[in-house]
Amino acid sequence: MLKLFVWLCLLRFLKGSPPQAKIFGGDLASIADYPHLVNVRRRGQFKCGGSLITPTCVLTAAHCMEGRNGFVNDLTVHAQQQCLGDLVLEEHVRTVWYASVWPKFNLRCNYDSDIAVLKLTRPFDIAGKASLVKLDFNELPASANLTIVGWGLTKDNWPFNPNQCLKAAQVHLVPQQVCLTTIGSMSPVTENMFCAIGKNATDACPGDSGGSILFENRLSGIVSWGNGCGSGYPGVYTRLSSPAMTSFVKYFIERHC
Ligand SMILES: *[C@@H]1O[C@H](CO)[C@@H](O)[C@H](O)[C@H]1NC(C)=O
Ligand SMILES: *[C@@H]1O[C@H](CO)[C@@H](O)[C@H](O)[C@H]1NC(C)=O
Repeated sequence: MLKLFVWLCLLRFLKGSPPQAKIFGGDLASIADYPHLVNVRRRGQFKCGGSLITPTCVLTAAHCMEGRNGFVNDLTVHAQQQCLGDLVLEEHVRTVWYASVWPKFNLRCNYDSDIAVLKLTRPFDIAGKASLVKLDFNELPASANLTIVGWGLTKDNWPFNPNQCLKAAQVHLVPQQVCLTTIGSMSPVTENMFCAIGKNATDACPGDSGGSILFENRLSGIVSWGNGCGSGYPGVYTRLSSPAMTSFVKYFIERHC
């Protein structure tokens, strides 16, 4: 029975091309313009993007935690990195103390509620260059213009470039009904998700996961999953405005951040 369950999950994931997100299309960007953006590393190796929401808390995607929840001892967060291979000053690195992952994440074998908050052992000095992003829990207006930013794959580099430099791209909100009927045929699209795509199939890609999608410089969502990237299908993002996502983040911030 367990085997069957695992196999069914695997099929679903392969079909839906799991939470792999990059910037496909778009342009090089300066970290100075996105000072809240951090990268999450496991044993020093780049895993995902993240957003600094308070001096001691980072918002990222649940799938970046690879099934782990609670105390962790091998994750760090790097702020102020332009390119992944750049030397990082010690003052821009913090250790993760524990992770709070949406409790039911993955139980349904899809990316519903792809959200996690990481509590750091020490606050970042936000008087320095790292700074916080404002959260936007409001419903996005139709066709909202959004910005995605990350160190993920670009259309020109496969396999992953360990010295990838930050890129950003403009995308727009896709109506939920279109999201459901296009990418929703790959894997379920829920009310905790929204879709976005840019001109020429501009999209997030593997490595952008956990990072930011911004509306007027406020954080509206988290890079979550897609059907590959740049495939012409919209990318899927965790929707901070859904009641469940809003209360999860607010609850954690009030008690832990
Ligand atoms: C999005 O940006 C484009 C190009 O700047 C503009 O033409 C369009 O009106 C904007 N859409 C919305 C909903 O603001
Ligand atoms: C889309 O592709 C066309 C043709 O290659 C190019 O001229 C245009 O600048 C691209 N637009 C964006 C937003 O990348």
